[in-house]
Amino acid sequence: MCGIIGYIGKRDVVSLVVDGLRRLEYRGYDSAGIAYFLKGEIQLKRSVGKLSSLEAILPRNPSDGVSGIGHTRWATHGKPSEDNAHPHRAGTLVMVHNGIIENYLSLKKKLQDEGRVFTSDTDSEVIIHLVDSFYQKGLSLEVSVQKAVMQMHGSYAICILSKDAPDELVAVRSGCPLVVGVGESEYFVASDIPAFLSHTRNVIYLEDGEMVLFSPNGLEICDFKGARLVKEQHQISWDPVMAEKGGYRHFMQKEIHEQPRAIVDTIRGHVAQEAGEVLLAGTEEIGQWMENCQRIVIIGCGTSWHAALVGKFLLEEIAKIPVEVDIASEFRYRDPHLVKGDWVIGISQSGETADTLAAIKEAKTKGIPTLSICNVVGSSLSRETDAVFYTHAGPEISVASTKAFTTQLTALTLLAIYLGRRRGHLSEKAGKQLIHQLFLIPKQIEEVLAHEDRVADIARNFFRYRDFLYLGRGILYPVALEGALKLKEISYIHAEGYPAGEMKHGPIALIDENMPVVVLALKDKVYEKIVSNVMEVKARGGVVIAFAEEGDTELAPLVDEICFIPKVVSALSPILMTIPLQLLAYHVSVSRGSDVDQPRNLAKSVTVE
Ligand code: AGP
Repeated sequence: MCGIIGYIGKRDVVSLVVDGLRRLEYRGYDSAGIAYFLKGEIQLKRSVGKLSSLEAILPRNPSDGVSGIGHTRWATHGKPSEDNAHPHRAGTLVMVHNGIIENYLSLKKKLQDEGRVFTSDTDSEVIIHLVDSFYQKGLSLEVSVQKAVMQMHGSYAICILSKDAPDELVAVRSGCPLVVGVGESEYFVASDIPAFLSHTRNVIYLEDGEMVLFSPNGLEICDFKGARLVKEQHQISWDPVMAEKGGYRHFMQKEIHEQPRAIVDTIRGHVAQEAGEVLLAGTEEIGQWMENCQRIVIIGCGTSWHAALVGKFLLEEIAKIPVEVDIASEFRYRDPHLVKGDWVIGISQSGETADTLAAIKEAKTKGIPTLSICNVVGSSLSRETDAVFYTHAGPEISVASTKAFTTQLTALTLLAIYLGRRRGHLSEKAGKQLIHQLFLIPKQIEEVLAHEDRVADIARNFFRYRDFLYLGRGILYPVALEGALKLKEISYIHAEGYPAGEMKHGPIALIDENMPVVVLALKDKVYEKIVSNVMEVKARGGVVIAFAEEGDTELAPLVDEICFIPKVVSALSPILMTIPLQLLAYHVSVSRGSDVDQPRNLAKSVTVE
């Protein structure tokens, strides 16, 4: 985890680095720090807590130099404290690090035996001491870094400055994201593009095993052996204002409201409506290979795993392909049985989730073709897989995933229609109907969003409860899981998602007037069953908040609160049903005064195990 940034150029170093860190805070915010030059000396400022604490201790006009590095931390080794905050210093060098050095204890022991003194509990500090141990022998910074990384096991993106060369900066990538921004006589290097997007749209993606050297002569990229590489420069099309709050109180609220647009963008270019066909624009050949696959295994973490669970319903029902779903962190360690004819799909908003990346690599070592469903263009996952289906949700800043989830569901629906048509299990007529319904979804989401006040009222009635149970059946069961995850991560209320039919096998013992039960009920084939579940809850004195479809007069008198969504076909109901659950979690969190966009202990992109 953690966000890092380096800048080299003639503008105000400190404000550019701090501004970049602000856009990287979603990656962690336990502490922040910055290093810059003043009168030829490296100044180090670090502070526990959010970036605002760091800003509060920065002097006026702090720097007269041309380079600086910064860090926003998500603690792994060592509690949040000033000593554990980055940058770390050794000799004349300072460094920021994102990742984990797995063999840090043995490296630290060796370096301590050589007389080096450590001031933090972090794994990161060994990196700079190790580099310095070579640098002190008279090797160049470039060669010192290369020699150090040869001894390091784990994942890292690192930026290093030396007091001896204030106009130089070295950055290295192995297993953690790092992107170079190329401006007019200035350069950025950062964990993610929004860190510098308001300054340049020209980027170079670094791969694992690559390092970049910035100097007054420009930049050079090389591998860990020093061999120079020629890399392509890409242009980013995102609008920087897309990454701002746009008038909403929180990024999460803005991102919930962006879903109609995000879904339209995700569908765009993929549909031939008249023919009832989906076109996998940009990934056609992959689609053709996939057409004959025997089984699909979908992996992901958190919300992306919930999308995978919905994907199983969609692909099995529409395309008649057997699907297995696995949590990426489980998949990677259980020696999964994969055979010829299998396909593995990795779902990830960020494309940087360490467990998902490792799971995809595991599939690849077994010779299994891979596809990613990913939001961040050029992310590690998108480059690791044989093909990628981009969900054009745009930058998602709030830690709680919202538009990424519904665009993942959109992508899975498109894939299911594509494969269903090509495998002959979805007729032209049925394909057309489903595509027609999909086109209606953005409008229907707007209708749900128009009733935000109603959901906010419910939230105000229930925000003091300590436990919630979410029940759904069939394709809405993963939506119940997602609703519960949203609530717990941003309001710190204990919430459990459960398949409603399982309630009687245990959770029913929990039911009383202190645990509201959120029930997802559509008039589908399990409607009668879910009504029975509502009755079971009510019979035990439980409180029911129902989300049902317009025109459902049967459920209203049975429950305590009810909120309606437009009528929708079962396959698309997860997209629509998710919206009020996001709003519920959002407004509960606001009522509790929680930090909606940056909930405690979490980070947007989990780039460590
Ligand atoms: C979602 O609200 C969570 N913050 C989290 O579960 C997230 O979905 C998970 O960490 C996976 O991230 P990814 O989609 O970027 O891989």
